[in-house]
Amino acid sequence: MTTAIGGAPLLSVEGVTKSYSHSRWRRRSEPAPALRNVSVSVSRGRTLGIVGESGSGKSTLGRCILALTRPDSGAIIFEGSDVLALNRRGLSEFRRRVQPVFQDPYSSLDPRWPVGRSVRESLDSFGIGSPSSRDARMLDLFDRVGLDPSFSTRLPAELSGGQRQRVGIAAALASEPQLIIADEPVSALDVSVQAQILNLFMDLQNDLGVGCVFITHDLSVVEHVSDEIAVLYRGEVVELGQTEQIMGSPVHDYTRSLLSSVPCHPPLASHPPFPRT
Ligand SMILES: Nc1ncnc2c1ncn2[C@@H]1O[C@H](COP(=O)(O)OP(=O)(O)O)[C@@H](O)[C@H]1O
Ligand SMILES: [Mg+2]
Repeated sequence: MTTAIGGAPLLSVEGVTKSYSHSRWRRRSEPAPALRNVSVSVSRGRTLGIVGESGSGKSTLGRCILALTRPDSGAIIFEGSDVLALNRRGLSEFRRRVQPVFQDPYSSLDPRWPVGRSVRESLDSFGIGSPSSRDARMLDLFDRVGLDPSFSTRLPAELSGGQRQRVGIAAALASEPQLIIADEPVSALDVSVQAQILNLFMDLQNDLGVGCVFITHDLSVVEHVSDEIAVLYRGEVVELGQTEQIMGSPVHDYTRSLLSSVPCHPPLASHPPFPRT
């Protein structure tokens, strides 16, 4: 449905359906599939926002794209290759090129390690650069995400939520990915800090050309970072289009109801200073 500008999309999800064999909530009736015939695509260096209420299947879609969950049917095509058919070696190359950022960076950071060590570990595990160059690269990544190098020696618990998410993003960038799958990356943060992290995502897209699938339940968040938006409702894409089109003239009742719950908000400045949150 989406058209990629300048050739094949970086990622395309084609008719993906996924059911869980047992409902998390043990409903009496058969659970509806978490995803039903979902098709979306992301062009190089572009951001696709995925928005929908809790339980609409957003995280399941993210996990399918990351090859953490196997769909029942459909295809995930990255750079022309069928991700579900990759062998072990292909999958490890795929994992280098497609990196996750989660809501809670605690899940990717070892609480006992200074955060710089976690980022260095990503560089080591993907074999990025020569071993002697990796500490300098690690500090470059801190700079890239707006953190002073001195933060690298701190433990995760010594950082604020926003600082921890910056480290999570640095760890994701370590492998020089082409695509980031960010699942509710600002949902745990205060609104003022959310804006700073959203600006960082936009800078990464502009400066590094990293593509992004940005998952959130909050339409006001996704509007700022996305070139295109897919609206998920009960596991189905009910609306898909350019951001201005979706925000300006939503077709689906569900999108209208999401929009009507969005509070008025000032647009984010394109290049505000980076306060050290
Ligand atoms: N591991 C799981 N086992 C069983 N059901 C699950 C599992 N993960 C998600 N679900 C169900 O799939 C549906 C979609 O969940 P999810 O993808 O987490 O949605 P979202 O991220 O939009 O909140 C929900 O009904 C949820 O209960
Ligand atoms: Mg979720």
